[in-house]
Amino acid sequence: MLRTRFTERFGVEHPIVQGGMMWVGRAELVAAVANAGGLGFITALTQPTPDDLRREIERTRELTDKPFGVNVTILPSINPPPYEEYMKAIIESGVKIVETAGSNPEPFLPYYKDAGIKVLHKCTSVRHALKAERIGVDGVSIDGFECAGHPGEDDVPGLVLIPAAAKALEIPIIASGGIGDARGLVAALALGADGVNMGTRFMCTQESPVHQKVKEQIVAQGERDTQLIFRTMNNTARVADNEISRKVVEIEKAGGVFEDVRDLVAGARGRRVFEDGDLNAGIWTAGQVQGLIDDIPTCDELISRMVSEAEGLITDRLASFVR
Ligand SMILES: Cc1cc2nc3c(=O)[nH]c(=O)nc-3n(C[C@H](O)[C@H](O)[C@H](O)COP(=O)(O)O)c2cc1C
Repeated sequence: MLRTRFTERFGVEHPIVQGGMMWVGRAELVAAVANAGGLGFITALTQPTPDDLRREIERTRELTDKPFGVNVTILPSINPPPYEEYMKAIIESGVKIVETAGSNPEPFLPYYKDAGIKVLHKCTSVRHALKAERIGVDGVSIDGFECAGHPGEDDVPGLVLIPAAAKALEIPIIASGGIGDARGLVAALALGADGVNMGTRFMCTQESPVHQKVKEQIVAQGERDTQLIFRTMNNTARVADNEISRKVVEIEKAGGVFEDVRDLVAGARGRRVFEDGDLNAGIWTAGQVQGLIDDIPTCDELISRMVSEAEGLITDRLASFVR
């Protein structure tokens, strides 16, 4: 058993988190992570309406009696979703852990606190983590530059970002980005983190609701097979290398603006990748950790393996260096 401030404070068995993932963070995956003793997050905005989210929470409860949470990602948008209604659905459903991401959670925090909900805020820099600590979140997940999705614009990888955050913060820290096995978990703990968050690794499990071909592609791809899109728009996203992501980068390099790539990056095209397994239908999110992933285990196999190998690494390999 690995006990950390995170497992104690958030009441989970293992210091392993499955962060919010658009289209992927659904009941089956979240419940499988929970049943394996990790902390899974349903992705609120994958559900078209707050009522759908209520139903997804219920569906998850039917599959597990262990704790799980809901991720709410707030990104700038022309037609923002009804965030307050989603928050209400979470609170009224009795969920006790929320992962916030994308922007400052301050406006929502008092409501979560009043409802006795613990908040884990995901961010990509020490200064944003400090801000989150100041406003009263219970823990932070910090994404290094390796991560899938939005790494921010500072380009600081986890090897520097995590110890820098550990030095500056009092609250529990979850290291995120580039972690896929026991070595990453032990390294994160050594760097000062209290646990790890994984996206790409959990997307490539039996219970993940994406097409088998996507999982096989993650296994096939190496650590160099990602692209950084939207760099020129100050909204960098790390996605899987494919025909579409390469084209987007090319258009940006040639001076293109969002309008020039709007159709290529449309969410509906990305969903076709996950649903139909058409790997070049659109943009889909994956991280550099693809290079460390070479199987498609169940969540239980993955988490048990990580925890037992981590214990072995600590008590055998690391201890053997101490004379
Ligand atoms: C398919 C996919 C979708 C994601 N969608 C979201 C999201 O909606 N909100 C969010 O906060 N993070 C999102 N992420 C990021 C993950 O929660 C996590 O921070 C990231 O994957 C960590 O990097 P890793 O993939 O190297 O483990 C997504 C990641 C993936 C792979």
